Amino acid sequence: MEERQHSDALVFFGATGDLAYKKIFPALQAMVKRGTLTMPVIGVAKAGWGLDQLVARAKDSLEKHGGLDGEAWDKLSKLLRYVDGDYSDIETFKKVKQELGDAKAPAHYLAIPPAMFEKVVEQLVASGCADNARMIVEKPFGHDLASAQELNKILLSAFPESSIFRIDHYLAKGPVRNLVAFRFQNSMMEPLWNRTFIESVQITMAEDFGVQGRGAFYDQTGAIRDVVQNHIFQLMCNLAMEAPANKDAESMRNEKVKVLRSIAPISAKDVLRGQFKGYLEEKGVKPDSDVETFAVLRLQIQSWRWGGVPFYIRAGKNMPVTCTEVLARLRKPPITNLTEEDVPQNYLRFRISPEMTIAMAVSVSNESGKGRRQAVELVASRHPAADEMEAYERVLTDAMKGDPTLFARQDYVEEAWRIVDPMLADEDPVIVYEPGTWGPESPALTPLGGWDKPLPETSDDYRVVEG
Ligand code: BG6
Repeated sequence: MEERQHSDALVFFGATGDLAYKKIFPALQAMVKRGTLTMPVIGVAKAGWGLDQLVARAKDSLEKHGGLDGEAWDKLSKLLRYVDGDYSDIETFKKVKQELGDAKAPAHYLAIPPAMFEKVVEQLVASGCADNARMIVEKPFGHDLASAQELNKILLSAFPESSIFRIDHYLAKGPVRNLVAFRFQNSMMEPLWNRTFIESVQITMAEDFGVQGRGAFYDQTGAIRDVVQNHIFQLMCNLAMEAPANKDAESMRNEKVKVLRSIAPISAKDVLRGQFKGYLEEKGVKPDSDVETFAVLRLQIQSWRWGGVPFYIRAGKNMPVTCTEVLARLRKPPITNLTEEDVPQNYLRFRISPEMTIAMAVSVSNESGKGRRQAVELVASRHPAADEMEAYERVLTDAMKGDPTLFARQDYVEEAWRIVDPMLADEDPVIVYEPGTWGPESPALTPLGGWDKPLPETSDDYRVVEG
């Protein structure tokens, strides 16, 4: 395997922001604890702050998000540096260069709005900070296909594709990666996992909270851009892709792009958008906003494996539960001595969060041996979420090692926007739904057999689902 140089400094733009507070400092502390972060970490922002304030903010962030680890914090606080300044001012970047000292392979992490990328990239180049550097960029990567292409042009003008790491933290979640492992490590999966046996696949990403003070960001984004184009599509690619030709990152990424290439742009008739009641009162939201906080859609992957199998996607805020789950229904066998209704349908269920579960529902006789059969779930695996390496720790560790497997490649990002672009032009107004409900429904966008209603997990090896 190709030897990659480890980054020897991390510069992160947006150091005083929300993402840094909630995710980045906890990830950095975890990396220190694991021994993967021993290099300087230079926070950059324009806040009129000094290093002491950044250190205090980092400490507060750790206390609120995951807990302060005395020993790791002691080490991390010594690695922290801070540069305050405007992103369009070359002086800011000269200070960054100074802080980099004799680092020869820095990683620059843009945890800032995409509108600022161009400025920062220009100044990184002009100040010499871009030499032999890696670029780690946050989602949303663009606003639509045209803006994503433009962003790619900007980044690629200064860095080769192999040095660009586009984050989608969903890809780094253990249960999302495990989908690929489960599919390709179990020979019983392959004969089942195609259009011959699978009737439909549905993916639900439900959150039982609203926009959590992120109204201004969310109102520029909406559910399709926020989670469908990126997180859910990545999940779908792990479910739908062919086995990679090799173990390397590009073989894996090639297969994902092939899935997206097999999907036609989704037209407005294949999507329904909703908005939870009360969204318009959120801070930062336009009083007449038509931005969706819920979307349900249907698409087809026109490949030999999946031709004719509808994929349904549903994502929303203020739903009844917080849960991401995939349900793939198998076609029913021919029914001879019973009625259709007496035989519950087989399915495979992959719960991605809050716990990880893999289960298969089969139909068995009930105690009397007569009439309607029972649907029983055989549980292959169930883990609490807690024993996972947190997604942000994984993405930052991998990016600094130079391993691109869990990052979105240029062609992937552009294909994903190509598919959602027509939906973004949907002029049908959003349908208002009550918080705590499953959002608006339409028969054309409902899988045969209905939508999954994720239940709380139990600790049994199997459970009776119905019957
Ligand atoms: C983010 C979205 O990318 O992912 C949020 O901007 C969403 O709106 C979040 O809540 C979900 O990720 P996780 O890891 O918290 O399930």
